[in-house]
Amino acid sequence: EHGSLPPREKWTFSGVFGTFDQAQLQRGFQVYREVCSNCHSMNYVRFRNLAEEGGPDFSESQVKALAASYKVKDGPNDQGEMFERPGRPADKLPAPFPNEQAAAVANGGKAPPDLSLMAKARTFGRGGLWFLIDWLPFVGYTEQGPDYVHALLNGYEETPPQGFQLPEGGHYNKYFPGNIIAMPKPLSDGQVSYPKGADGQPVAPETVDQYSRDVTAFLMWTAEPHFIARKELGLRAILFLIVLSGLLYYVKKKIWADVG
Ligand code: HEM
Repeated sequence: EHGSLPPREKWTFSGVFGTFDQAQLQRGFQVYREVCSNCHSMNYVRFRNLAEEGGPDFSESQVKALAASYKVKDGPNDQGEMFERPGRPADKLPAPFPNEQAAAVANGGKAPPDLSLMAKARTFGRGGLWFLIDWLPFVGYTEQGPDYVHALLNGYEETPPQGFQLPEGGHYNKYFPGNIIAMPKPLSDGQVSYPKGADGQPVAPETVDQYSRDVTAFLMWTAEPHFIARKELGLRAILFLIVLSGLLYYVKKKIWADVG
């Protein structure tokens, strides 16, 4: 059973020349850190990844300080004991629960899924035969995943439609398949304080809509860190093929000039 189709959004990483917005990815990481990481793990991301070019692009020293602000489980040591130590850039982002079972117990029976690849998890949201063209580079539409995550975070409704039976621990969400989601509405206006710009105002609006755009962009980057590089390579390959075609045509003309 499908939820409503997520509306199509504008993303900085859309289109042939799209790129990630470094400032947005940094804000998105802040939202993940302050809100989502209370329930969701990010097992495929290490602190040092946050310093990668084309990503949030934190400096090495920022990443070191950030990692050190977390406590990470390690061990066993010489005495066979587990211990905690400050995080290091090579560590994974620490998960909120030790395992899936504990995560499920803490969340009314449904474990919050790992978010590392979530922005790619629900694609082909347009349904029908669209998938036939959606995989084509440039023609296809590869951003249904981010559209879905953004829509989901904005898709909560206090009062479900008439006649809709909401089970205990369930929340009504327009875009979640089946409409009953175990995740309570995670974001509200003003919840995360963005850094202040030179004018003393937050660098971006502190609204659910903006938070969800930022965190979704961040999740797109974690799911597809090479998205932009791949698009560039694709573009270069196509340019190369165009030049090569011209060249081959010219050579062919030349070689066959005397015949017939
Ligand atoms: C599921 C994102 C915060 C608990 C999900 C899903 C996404 C998501 C994309 C998967 C939906 C699907 O399967 O289609 C986020 C983001 C958050 C956030 C971006 C921060 C802004 C939280 C928080 C909690 C939580 C704070 C706990 C209080 C859950 C649970 C599920 C879930 C339990 C499983 C829902 C189900 O299968 O019914 N979340 N989440 N999430 N989330 Fe979150």
